[in-house]
Amino acid sequence: MKKYLVTGSYGQIGMDLIPAMLERYGKENIVATGRKKIPKEFKELDVIYNRLDIRDQYGLRRLLVDYDIDIIIHNASVLSATGERNPQLAHSINFEGFYNALEATRELKLEQLFAPSSIAAFGPTTPLDNTPNTTIMEPTSIYGISKVYTELMGNYYKQKYDLNFRSLRYPGVLSPEEPGGGTTDYAIWIFYEAIKNKKYECFLGPDVELPMMMMSDCLKSTFDLIEAPEEKLKHRTFNVTGMSFTPEVLANAIKEYIPDFEITYKPDFRDDIARTWPHSLDDSTAREEWGWDPEYPFDKMVTAMLDGVSEKLGIPYK
Ligand SMILES: NC(=O)c1ccc[n+]([C@@H]2O[C@H](COP(=O)([O-])OP(=O)(O)OC[C@H]3O[C@@H](n4cnc5c(N)ncnc54)[C@H](O)[C@@H]3O)[C@@H](O)[C@H]2O)c1
Repeated sequence: MKKYLVTGSYGQIGMDLIPAMLERYGKENIVATGRKKIPKEFKELDVIYNRLDIRDQYGLRRLLVDYDIDIIIHNASVLSATGERNPQLAHSINFEGFYNALEATRELKLEQLFAPSSIAAFGPTTPLDNTPNTTIMEPTSIYGISKVYTELMGNYYKQKYDLNFRSLRYPGVLSPEEPGGGTTDYAIWIFYEAIKNKKYECFLGPDVELPMMMMSDCLKSTFDLIEAPEEKLKHRTFNVTGMSFTPEVLANAIKEYIPDFEITYKPDFRDDIARTWPHSLDDSTAREEWGWDPEYPFDKMVTAMLDGVSEKLGIPYK
């Protein structure tokens, strides 16, 4: 069994990824790391955890050696909206942090580095409908630029050092967990506000269509790619998606369950970012090379989110 170290473990994805990894790979094979205090949910899981700021390259190497790690899952990142509020912080965490993970993987000859990219790696010059896996990438946000850097440096280290870099361009990831400061976060907060207050002021306009996926599909794609046989991969980074919708379509779907729910729109800087991102993704490369096949359609997502957020808040919505 391989040993895994995860960075940024206490974020939106980590909160579901770590429990899924414990089940899949065994408790003794997972080292969760994060900059924040360990959340109480993780204490209950009895997971091996360590404080690690990813900019601390020596701290990272010490953990990799001490725990005899084979694979890094590098999730620590500043997301798009937070990055636009503090580009210098985003630069330091997303560029230096990824470089530390990349260099440690090379020097210690680890077996694999998995680091997610994002739909934010695309930009206004990208064809935005059914965006292909290989296309123009000229993002305008610091977060998007950091994801292009991640992809290109990963490719470069593969070509130069045969380093086993793998990446997925996640779309907005949906789960009842509180999101970490991205542009697709509206599609989670809308459920919180619909259940708590029956109204939501959306920071995107009604017509901004974005690709999304349910957390279980995000985890499935991550495990499937990490475990895919090397000889099957012709690319290092892959588009993956589950569905696409606008705030208006999502609000109408919620109204079917909460009829007096009302949405209003007050687009801010996140609307400007979102309008440079794809409306939908072509994920055929992932389907062809390692059999990507999402399980969650839109309707099932809406009821799962209503149930999950309702349970988290302790407020019934029916
Ligand atoms: N959630 C999404 O919708 C989405 C979409 C596309 C890509 N991604 C990518 O997936 C990965 C995980 O995303 P997430 O949604 O869990 O993000 P998140 O913001 O919820 O979590 C990121 C975690 O990284 C931690 N972190 C920040 N700076 C750090 C540092 N210097 N050292 C160590 N940890 C640090 C944060 O404390 C946080 O717990 C990121 O690379 C993100 O870019 C996420």
